Amino acid sequence: MIHVTLIPGDGIGPEVIYGAKAVIDATGVKINWEEVEVGQKALALYKSPLPDLVIASIKKNKIALKGPVTTYVAEGFKSVNVDLRKTLDLYANLRPVKKIKGVKSRYEEVDLVIVRENTEDLYAGIEYEISPDIAQSIKLITRKGSERILHYAFSYAVNHGRRKVTAVHKANIMKLSDGLFLKVAREVSKEFPQIEYSEEIVDALCMNLVTKPETYDVLVLPNLYGDIVSDLGAGLVGGLGLVPGGNIGEDIAIFEAVHGSAPNIAGLGVANPTGVILSGCMMLRHIGEDEKAKIIENAVEEVLQEGIALTPDLGGDSTTKDFINRVIQKF
Ligand code: NAI
Repeated sequence: MIHVTLIPGDGIGPEVIYGAKAVIDATGVKINWEEVEVGQKALALYKSPLPDLVIASIKKNKIALKGPVTTYVAEGFKSVNVDLRKTLDLYANLRPVKKIKGVKSRYEEVDLVIVRENTEDLYAGIEYEISPDIAQSIKLITRKGSERILHYAFSYAVNHGRRKVTAVHKANIMKLSDGLFLKVAREVSKEFPQIEYSEEIVDALCMNLVTKPETYDVLVLPNLYGDIVSDLGAGLVGGLGLVPGGNIGEDIAIFEAVHGSAPNIAGLGVANPTGVILSGCMMLRHIGEDEKAKIIENAVEEVLQEGIALTPDLGGDSTTKDFINRVIQKF
């Protein structure tokens, strides 16, 4: 029996997480789900948006499946998502962005993997109010943080049959911080001569991703660029509801979709659960249940291709539950 911490989150989180859980359970894999609350619900229950019992559960189980959690803009408690990643040192945010045949998008051929540094950069949370009219955020880039994310990206490329790694930066302007990231990228690339290495300035990358996404393979980026380029990537393959992800550390991993809590559609029962289901597949592969992951991935692809149970974001009028039931029917 495998023990997994389940974090439903808020907004559309519970809708898509319980759907993904139903799909995973339907494969027959033996998982004991340990459910915990974070965010606003946890604040009401335990007076903390990220209670110690959540951290304890994840540390014990080493693995979690998580729904999105709302972070209030320019006020309120600090991001639970960033806090979780930092507290558990989940340094690699892995986001495969793959066009699924049959899903509507302007592009046919997109198959890239975003490897985002997950603990440093402007997300390190070092912010000061110097005066009511002057605020400062520190962009923290370290050799240690850069080395481990670059090693992760190159090792991922080797282990998954990828041909190229592109390091993304803005070192023409931030010569010291992004300059350090780039310097380490060049050093680490030399340890992997079998993998083609390229580098690109983030603004040029955005244009090129939109005009010729098929030319990219693995992208490795500091935290903020990785966050932004992830949503751009989702746009290339049909939308935010589709892209999965994992936050990976030395011995702990939390799997979650790229999308947020989507307050504009929360409670309507129409959220697309694909991103979370595929995050569940990444989780299953992480624990060695590759066969079950493949069964789910095939079923999801079939459902997306036949187009009968699509949610509104994909042009359909089905509900999250319709989609989930259709996926399970395909097993
Ligand atoms: P969002 O990803 O929640 O929504 C952006 C747009 O995409 C909305 O139109 C939404 O309806 C649509 N969308 C997202 N997921 C969808 C799905 N599964 N099915 C159908 N449509 C979907 O981004 P937004 O609005 O910027 O953020 C909302 C909240 O989520 C914020 O508080 C933000 O901080 C939080 N957030 C949390 C994340 C996490 O927990 N890992 C990640 C990103 C944002």
